[in-house]
Amino acid sequence: MKICVFGAGYVGLVAAACFAESGNTVVAVDVDQAKIEGLKQGIIPIYEPGLKELVLRNQAEGRLSFTTDVPLAVKSSLINFIAVGTPPGEDGSADLQYVLAVAREIGRNMESFKIVVDKSTVPVGTADKVRAALQEELDKRGTSLEFDVVSNPEFLKEGAAIEDFMKPDRVVIGTDNVRTAELMKELYEPFMRKHNRLIVMDIRSAEMTKYAANAMLATRISFMNQVALLCERMGADVAAVREGIGSDSRIGYDFLFPGPGYGGSCFPKDVKALIRTAEENDYDFLLLKAVEEVNERQKQVLSHKVQQTLGDTSKDRPLAGCTVACWGLSFKPRTDDMREAPAITIIENLLAQGATVRAHDPEALAEAKKQFGDRITYSTNQYDILADADVLVIITDWNEYRNPDFDRIKAELKEPFIIDGRNLYKLSRMRDYGFRYLPLGRNGIAAEGK
Ligand code: UDX
Repeated sequence: MKICVFGAGYVGLVAAACFAESGNTVVAVDVDQAKIEGLKQGIIPIYEPGLKELVLRNQAEGRLSFTTDVPLAVKSSLINFIAVGTPPGEDGSADLQYVLAVAREIGRNMESFKIVVDKSTVPVGTADKVRAALQEELDKRGTSLEFDVVSNPEFLKEGAAIEDFMKPDRVVIGTDNVRTAELMKELYEPFMRKHNRLIVMDIRSAEMTKYAANAMLATRISFMNQVALLCERMGADVAAVREGIGSDSRIGYDFLFPGPGYGGSCFPKDVKALIRTAEENDYDFLLLKAVEEVNERQKQVLSHKVQQTLGDTSKDRPLAGCTVACWGLSFKPRTDDMREAPAITIIENLLAQGATVRAHDPEALAEAKKQFGDRITYSTNQYDILADADVLVIITDWNEYRNPDFDRIKAELKEPFIIDGRNLYKLSRMRDYGFRYLPLGRNGIAAEGK
């Protein structure tokens, strides 16, 4: 099939590459000239495992191309995916200006029947707006071409995007047109593996499904973060509790890990947007407001632990003179994405309290420099930042932090002290090495003699 994808961001680029991989002819369009020029030369603007290889192969084999030429892209494709950003506006609602701009472009340039697919995460009712914007352009041209709007939300996770796209749990298609549903089925057939995973429903339900899924997952995380903090106070171990409840098949084990708060481009934005959508419909989504509030508080937990253990509250800046080494800046492993990353809140708090901060991340240092500039120091070596630091704080659960050289950590730090926001280490191991160790949601190991 002939496809064009508007927006060469995370979702757009992955979708374009994966559709090309299954034999379609795909053109990815973006207004960012530099990004497109880079992609033409094989420069991938984001870090995502496997993406580069996929893009290069499909480009070389002539199935995937990149352009800023909108008219050409629209004319040459039957299915037009909209995968541009929907950043939160001032009030938390999703800003649809880029989505609607693409709809208008399609309306201005189409010369035959088109299927227009919303892949961006858009609030319920957006398909109607896309249809209206497109129709308006057709009316201006005085043409009466046919088109169909489909909602096809994307559920991929950063860091596992290719795998998620190629082997989805499900593909949701919102359409009221049987012929279009059949075409979308054909397009997704190669990704269905052993049984059909395509769920066809009405457009509004498809739009709502995406928000409800992300809000549900965010709710699980906030719930578990609160359980963890209560476990700390009661001397229970959140890891044991997770196993205990996860074994109930109605609950399951996933997305029950406590941490420094959820971040990324989806959960924070989508939770806000759904609260806002509810408000616009005279409904108070009380539960989600709490989920968001709990997450904001959770982002304060790690810096608070540093302050409690090392701070001198008689001072204006309680952490003046302290050096804090941070492992992990991206909002989760296997991505360089720092959008809404808890590391931002944690490090800003530490700096505000006078600490000297050093940071390591396998991929996100360039992004981090945009955020913190020269207010903190950076290293590509995870041990270099430890020299004479007062504490090591683990913020992101990158694999390279799971089995580190503990002798070296101990030798480098001023005192052997780790605050672990991801519960990476066994208590017995920490005890054997003689670390003072503060995990989340379970008893830690106090400093010797304290
Ligand atoms: C999420 C959804 O999983 C995906 O389906 C949707 O398409 C986009 O949003 P993503 O933002 O890439 O994907 O990351 P995800 O792996 O879901 O993690 C989100 C955040 O939750 C991270 O900050 C992560 O650290 C945190 N998290 C996740 C926890 O704190 N605990 C958990 O148990 C799981």
